[in-house]
Amino acid sequence: MDIKIEQLTTEQTKPVPTEFQFGRTFSNRMYTCHYDPDKGWYDPKIGPYRPLVLDPATSVFHYSQEIFEGLKAYKRPDGHINLFRPWENAARFNRSAERMSMKTVDAEEHVQAIASLVELEHEWIPSGDGTSLYIRPAMIATDPFLGVAASKTYLHYIIVGPVGNYYAEGMAPVGVLISDDYRRAVRGGTGAAKTGGNYSASLIASEKAKEKGYTQVLWLDAIHGKFVEEVGTMNIMFVYEGEKIVTPKLTGSILPGVTRDSLLTLAPDLGYEVSEEEIEVDQMLADVKSGKITEVFGCGTAVVVSPVGWFGYRGENVDVNHRKMGPISQHLYDALTDIQFGRAKDPYGWTMKIEV
Ligand code: COI
Repeated sequence: MDIKIEQLTTEQTKPVPTEFQFGRTFSNRMYTCHYDPDKGWYDPKIGPYRPLVLDPATSVFHYSQEIFEGLKAYKRPDGHINLFRPWENAARFNRSAERMSMKTVDAEEHVQAIASLVELEHEWIPSGDGTSLYIRPAMIATDPFLGVAASKTYLHYIIVGPVGNYYAEGMAPVGVLISDDYRRAVRGGTGAAKTGGNYSASLIASEKAKEKGYTQVLWLDAIHGKFVEEVGTMNIMFVYEGEKIVTPKLTGSILPGVTRDSLLTLAPDLGYEVSEEEIEVDQMLADVKSGKITEVFGCGTAVVVSPVGWFGYRGENVDVNHRKMGPISQHLYDALTDIQFGRAKDPYGWTMKIEV
C-alpha cells in the first residue's frame, strides 16, 4: 500500500521547539490508516498532527480495546538517523493485537510508515545528549457500539515527539516500593501485551508509592505474591557479584521488552554471564543486604537503563549500591546507546539507517 503524503499548511507547521518534555511535545505530522472488514486496511496517510474526532460510544473509550508501542529514532554522528529494532516492535505490536482481538497490520508496512514519518519529521530529532525522537504507534477500536465484542473497525496511527529523560531524576537511582497490595498482571491475562489497561491498572499503586516518597513500584507475581516480575513500566535486572546479570524469566505476565532482549544479547559479548530465572523477593532482598546483589536496574525503551537506589518493603528500606548507579549498569547503558546512536558498530543488525 502506498502511503499518501499530505502537504501541510503554514498554520499546521509549527517550529521545532528547543525545549520539550517526554510525551508532551509532538511533531507536525502523524500517520493514520483505517480498517474495516470490507476494505481491510485502507487509506494509509501521513497528514497534519490533529485531534481525533470520535463518537462518544466508540468502543475503545469503554472497553479499552487498544494497543500501543514505543521505539525511538536517534540522530547519528554522521547526521543520518537510526531506528532501533523497529521490526521487533512491529512483531510485538501484532502479538498485542492478537491478544486484544484486534486486526494485525502488515509488519513491513508498519515499519515503512514509521520510517517515512521519521524521515519527513527528521528536523524534530533532537541532538542533545541522551535525546531522541520517541515514536508512538497505537491502534484503537473504533466501532461506535456499546456491546462488549471485538470491534469490526480500527484506527492505526503513529505520532512522534522529541524526548530527553523520562524521569525527572534523570539517571539518578530511584526508590522502589515493593507492592504487597496490588498486582500488575496474571498469567493468562494481558501482561505480555502492550495495552493501556495494564498501565491504568498500575496507577493506584504508583500514586500510593509516590505519596510515600518512592518513584516506582516493584511488581510481584499475582499467584504467589513472591516472584519478582517488573518494575514500574519496565523489566528489571539484578547484577550478582559484579558479573552475572539475572532477570525474571518470561512467564506470560511479563512484557517481553526489546531493551531486555537487547541487553541479554549484548551483555555476554561484554563479558557478563546472563540468566533468566525465577527471583524470589525475600531472597532477592537478602542478597541485596548481604552485598551479593551489587546493582539493580529497570530497563525499557523510554529510559534504557534506570538504576534502583533502594527498595521499600513492609516498612523497611534496603539500599542498593549505596544508592549510586553501578559500573555494570553504566557499561550496559553506554554500550547499548552507542549502538542505538550509531556511535558503535552494530553487529546484531538492530539498527535501520535512514539517510536524510
Ligand atoms: C518504556 O519504554 O519503558 C515504557 O514502557 C514506558 C512507556 C509506557 C512510556
